[in-house]
Amino acid sequence: MIDRTEVATRTPASLAHLKKLGQPIVMVTAYDYNSAVAAEAAGVDIVLVGDSAAMTMLGYASTQLVSLDEMLMLTRAVRRGLARTLLIGDLPYGTYESSDDLALTTARRFIGAGCDAVKLEGGAQERVSRVRTLTNAGIPVMGHVGLTPQSTGVGEAYRVQGRTAGQALQVLNEAKALENAGCFVLVFEAIPAEVTALLAPRISVPVIGIGAGSATDGQVLVFDDLVGLSVGRPAKFVKRYADVRSEFSAAIAAYADDVRARRFPAPANGYVIDPSELDTLRSALGHSG
Ligand code: KIV
Repeated sequence: MIDRTEVATRTPASLAHLKKLGQPIVMVTAYDYNSAVAAEAAGVDIVLVGDSAAMTMLGYASTQLVSLDEMLMLTRAVRRGLARTLLIGDLPYGTYESSDDLALTTARRFIGAGCDAVKLEGGAQERVSRVRTLTNAGIPVMGHVGLTPQSTGVGEAYRVQGRTAGQALQVLNEAKALENAGCFVLVFEAIPAEVTALLAPRISVPVIGIGAGSATDGQVLVFDDLVGLSVGRPAKFVKRYADVRSEFSAAIAAYADDVRARRFPAPANGYVIDPSELDTLRSALGHSG
């Protein structure tokens, strides 16, 4: 486990500072120890244990299907891989919407699992109340507006948001309400770039975009999408920086070939026994020579 005391940790305040300096904030999702270590080694500012883990890690058809216990297990693994990166946990569907008390209980479990902050989706009035409750309790909250996958039913397609003036104004109103309720950072998802360019300057906390153009204070991508691990066609806004799925398959196929051809394991992959002990063993087993 990494010693968190040895290095300076990213905080909500340091993100605000990056915004002030005009330095883009880099956020990526991670769902296990290895991806967390890789993200931190790459120097990202924020790691989100996103409920996209439902699909990337667990093979569910929707973010609505991941449970709180599954999210907490992944969060603890990610925590063990991070020292200085801000860690945010995504409150899963069904664990915060119905009351402020439920939201607080769930958020405290994420903080107990090692998160520095939590994220929740949506900016309707009751979500704003959840944010106020959490921030009043000292839990930093990331808001999420535009496309909110948790409101998309299993089997339904994700839809770009803010394509009409009315929808765009609704995104702005929700973002402002979340900011006023205490969110220290907001995600804008799947919003036309020109709309983001008009809305983002009206928000005083950092805005992190995904499929929302370049006029934000930072960007987030799903780990599996960016390294090329995800199954299926990625969303339009995804840029793949590697093809790790092909690399994995090629490596496993080469291993399978070696095993079937008895090329693996080679002597170098094994252990040895002292020759005299081997002789003793042979005699004990009745082997000659
Ligand atoms: O769950 C997730 O990965 C997210 C990001 C796309 C922001 O919410």
